[in-house]
Amino acid sequence: MASEKPVNSKIGGTGSYIPETILTNRDLERLVDTSDDWITRRTGIKERRIASREQFASDMAAEAAREALSTAGLSPVDLDLIVVGTVTPDRQFPSCACTLQHKLGAGNAAAMDVSAGCSGFIYALSVAHNAIRCGEAEHALVVGVEVLSSVTNWADRGTCVLLGDGAGAVVLSRTTEETGIRSINLKSDGAYGNLLYAVDVNGDQSVRTTLDRAGQAKPFYLVMDGNSLFKKAVHCLEEVALATLERARVAIEDLALLVPHQANLRIINALAGRLGLATEKVYTTIEKYGNTSSASIPIAFNEARKSGRLAPRDKILLVTFGAGLTWGAALVEWNPL
Ligand code: ACO
Repeated sequence: MASEKPVNSKIGGTGSYIPETILTNRDLERLVDTSDDWITRRTGIKERRIASREQFASDMAAEAAREALSTAGLSPVDLDLIVVGTVTPDRQFPSCACTLQHKLGAGNAAAMDVSAGCSGFIYALSVAHNAIRCGEAEHALVVGVEVLSSVTNWADRGTCVLLGDGAGAVVLSRTTEETGIRSINLKSDGAYGNLLYAVDVNGDQSVRTTLDRAGQAKPFYLVMDGNSLFKKAVHCLEEVALATLERARVAIEDLALLVPHQANLRIINALAGRLGLATEKVYTTIEKYGNTSSASIPIAFNEARKSGRLAPRDKILLVTFGAGLTWGAALVEWNPL
């Protein structure tokens, strides 16, 4: 009796959504003590997009998801699973994924959020990939979405110049061909949770309620030790990139494209240098969108596809790090048909 071929997952469609409102470095010069020159030199960012007050994470996710479904040739009812990576869901509960499922009309899909900081998309990809591999799903939607403007301290020049809003999505489908997701590697270390975290206006890190004891609204925002995070990030990204390539048995020279988390152009360039990758093989969107956390990799991946940067059988490395700390990477062989 012939043995059954192993089941794998592959990306069949990609999509993204970027809000219309542009916030430039010049606009930020009027808000905090900074300059276009400093932001450009230290981060590579020129502008970022900001969601409207009426736009929630699930709204942007739905736009990205519709494009991903359309390029995969599937409809929402074909989905068995929706996994959303986000740290800025519409509400604490129910999940952004459940709201998205309803907005899409994806009535056959189980839905859940994954919270892993900027690594949310790669973590969500891993959940969906493994659900497909073990036979729980045939088609899964994986989304990275953030409304970081809602947790930005607009008086803190060390963070407000970095962040932006947006959404990206992929559709993963079952395959028995030797293609698709070749390896995923996830890492975390909670000992470094103090490098990037949410804090409320009173400086209280246990942000479990939006009201304080007196019933007053308690907005919270993001706090970051950028310099320490920078050094940690370069090390973590290199380590997980090399481990993922090795596990997939892919040599650096055979990589067609690196799609890294878009946190800082200097981090991306340092990583490319350590890996010995030419800059033409690194895809960036940071100059246009800043750091969109979980959304940055799927947005960049979709733009790479649309600009003709992906050819069949290309090997692409996705690599990320973020709050937690969390970090991770996926080696994808592009073969949408
Ligand atoms: N404009 C002008 N000056 C600034 C600004 C600004 N926007 N921000 C900081 N500075 C100043 C500082 O006050 C400091 O001044 P001082 O020397 O007088 O004290 C000086 O610039 C240097 O500050 P550093 O923090 O050492 O600057 P650095 O080169 O590290 O750049 C940055 C800061 C851009 C934040 C960088 O550290 C970085 O990108 N870190 C990683 C961020 C990251 O990757 N975050 C990931 C996740 S974000 C998320 O999860 C949503």
